[in-house]
Amino acid sequence: MRKKIVAGNWKMNTVVPQGETLAKEIVGLSGEVPSDVTLIVAPPFTHLSRVAEALKGSRVALSAQNCADKESGAYTGEVSAKMLASVPVEYVILGHSERREYYGETNAKLVEKIKLALAENLSVIYCVGEKLEEREKGEHFNVIASQVKEVLFNLTAEQMSKVVIAYEPVWAIGTGKTATSAQAQEVHEFIRKTVAEKFGKDAADQTSILYGGSCKPGNARELFACKDIDGGLIGGASLVAGDFIAIAKSF
Ligand code: 13P
Repeated sequence: MRKKIVAGNWKMNTVVPQGETLAKEIVGLSGEVPSDVTLIVAPPFTHLSRVAEALKGSRVALSAQNCADKESGAYTGEVSAKMLASVPVEYVILGHSERREYYGETNAKLVEKIKLALAENLSVIYCVGEKLEEREKGEHFNVIASQVKEVLFNLTAEQMSKVVIAYEPVWAIGTGKTATSAQAQEVHEFIRKTVAEKFGKDAADQTSILYGGSCKPGNARELFACKDIDGGLIGGASLVAGDFIAIAKSF
């Protein structure tokens, strides 16, 4: 059985004490969530050590939002996968559309990042998703196929077993415009089929594929009920502990 996962991507929100409080609130409510749901929070780099303390002994796992594409050395301002693993952090989000769009992250660069993260035994939440104009032109399947093939097809089966995929249509992120459950399911099924082309049906069936983009307590249940949707990568709603937990209770 593949894992059900609800992960909160805090993006560039909260200062450290707020992040610590939010993490504690989430831990406090986490008992309400069925035990087969993996809960993950992804605060900014500055928060990781303090949030790690707040999560200690709880069921909530810690993720970073990015890591460097280099191992170590003279790369001012970068944070390596090894540094993250030393916090310790268990997961890292890579390939988020905001990183691709605003920081020029290419598929080639993401291959490097993912390999470095996996080498440090981090699990990776790899994001894919089309822009509005790509969907309007009917190119979304091609875009997603390249994001999966040009990146994940460079991994071994063992490496792939540590990767979670998040489908986040760019037009649904922070816009209040959620993909319908039918639109999301269709893409999730396509992603799973694409993964199966390289890694086989069993591996594809074991891969968790999360939906992201204006996922909220009010729409999570319908999304999570879809056959190929294994949870959510939550932005805005993950900043309110009660909403994040309500989403995690929506399976
Ligand atoms: P929102 O939930 O704010 O739309 O963000 C989704 C997202 O980008 C999570 O990574």
